[in-house]
Amino acid sequence: MSIWRKKPIEAYQQEAKNNDLNRVLTRWGLTSLGIGAIIGGGIFTLTGIAANEHAGPALALAFVIAGIGCLFASLCYAEFASVLPVEGSAYAYAYGTIGELFAWFIGWNLILEYMMGATTVAVAWSGYFNKLLHLFNIHIPEQWVNDPSTYGGPAFNVLAFLITWVITGILIKGIKEAASTNNIIVVLKVAVVLFVIIAGAFYVDPANWDPFIPAEVIDAKGNVHYGFGGVLTAATIVFFAYIGFDAVSTQAGEAINPKKDVPFAIIASLVICTVLYIAVSLVLTGMVKYDQLDMKAPVASAFSGQGLTWAVYLVTIAATAGLMSVMLVMMLGQTRIFLGMAKDGLLPKGMFGTLHSKFKTPWKSTILVGFIISIVAAITPIQNISEMCSMGTLLAFSMVCLAVLVLRVKEPNLERPYKTPWVWIVAPLGVGFNIFLMTHVRENTMTFFTIWGALGILIYFLYSRRNSKLHKA
Ligand code: ALA
Repeated sequence: MSIWRKKPIEAYQQEAKNNDLNRVLTRWGLTSLGIGAIIGGGIFTLTGIAANEHAGPALALAFVIAGIGCLFASLCYAEFASVLPVEGSAYAYAYGTIGELFAWFIGWNLILEYMMGATTVAVAWSGYFNKLLHLFNIHIPEQWVNDPSTYGGPAFNVLAFLITWVITGILIKGIKEAASTNNIIVVLKVAVVLFVIIAGAFYVDPANWDPFIPAEVIDAKGNVHYGFGGVLTAATIVFFAYIGFDAVSTQAGEAINPKKDVPFAIIASLVICTVLYIAVSLVLTGMVKYDQLDMKAPVASAFSGQGLTWAVYLVTIAATAGLMSVMLVMMLGQTRIFLGMAKDGLLPKGMFGTLHSKFKTPWKSTILVGFIISIVAAITPIQNISEMCSMGTLLAFSMVCLAVLVLRVKEPNLERPYKTPWVWIVAPLGVGFNIFLMTHVRENTMTFFTIWGALGILIYFLYSRRNSKLHKA
């Protein structure tokens, strides 16, 4: 049946050769893009709620658990990126192995990951920027820095709206400018994270780590706090902090040596961030008793609690800049996935597949993506957006782990510059782990996720199946 038609692997390899994008990204440039996408709202904001309400001092353990699931997925992503160095990421991998409908469905879910990821971070950015303005005694009325539901009346988050258009402008101008802007921000962001770890270590009181896992409490709504169950809930929250390493795979078209450097950058950026995250969580929960950790700006607040006002400025400024780089890579990734889908005829080429004659960027889809993000970010509560983002990502991760096995069986002799180690253990664990985390979201998120999926399948049958390049061939 046509929904199972596959895009031949040779077609991808040909596409990689005929690539129109500028090849400017080096191995460390790609790693920097990965780190730029990973370190953001997860570590700067969600650590507060995860430790305070669910994990206690065992926040570091929650990071380890979430990190293991991501590591499985990253090893599978790396193999695919070496075989199919094209910009479509998990979408392209599924198209080459499992079939068209499946690939479309993954692409549809990647929209949740990339677009909703960038949207979540736009809202987080507005929170940090607003805090920064407060430090300088500038106060914007609450209805202009919140969504209507959070504000409790008519409201529009102007800051989230505006930052999205700034990033959109940078992206239209081009990957080279975007990459150098990103590199500066990544250096600043990593420096501040290192600063938090090193300076914070002097203020750690080991008594704050005791008990490491507080006794379990189940509230009236059935949510688990503390105990091992609480640590698992915290792991689903901090999972968001890891999203982004896979964004490296969407830059294959712009990498100088994609077959080797993309797998390297995927794994390197994830490993670097995992180590930093575990260290930050130990320091934070050691500096402040877990039930005193601030839930909006935990990192900055840990330093204000010690009277280090200058450090509060430093962390807030770095977080504000750092969140911008997450948005940059997420939005970049989204437009490159659209580009891959448009090349295959599953999305209209005029809108998603045309490159700007001078900048060589997919400018029309960049504007469309900017438009959607800016509006959704201005009117939707952050938790709703971030959970949808995590759902789309978890599904994509598990499908990539599945697809890597399918390709091993169907194309055992394919040249694989990078091979997933212990693939028959790593990939099934990746599938199981990520699906397991999906079952831990709130019920209304599951409902939205189902509606989103149904809408995607409808569009496939109404448009994409008929316009598919493979169908017309
Ligand atoms: N991992 C990214 C963040 O934490 C999405 O902001």
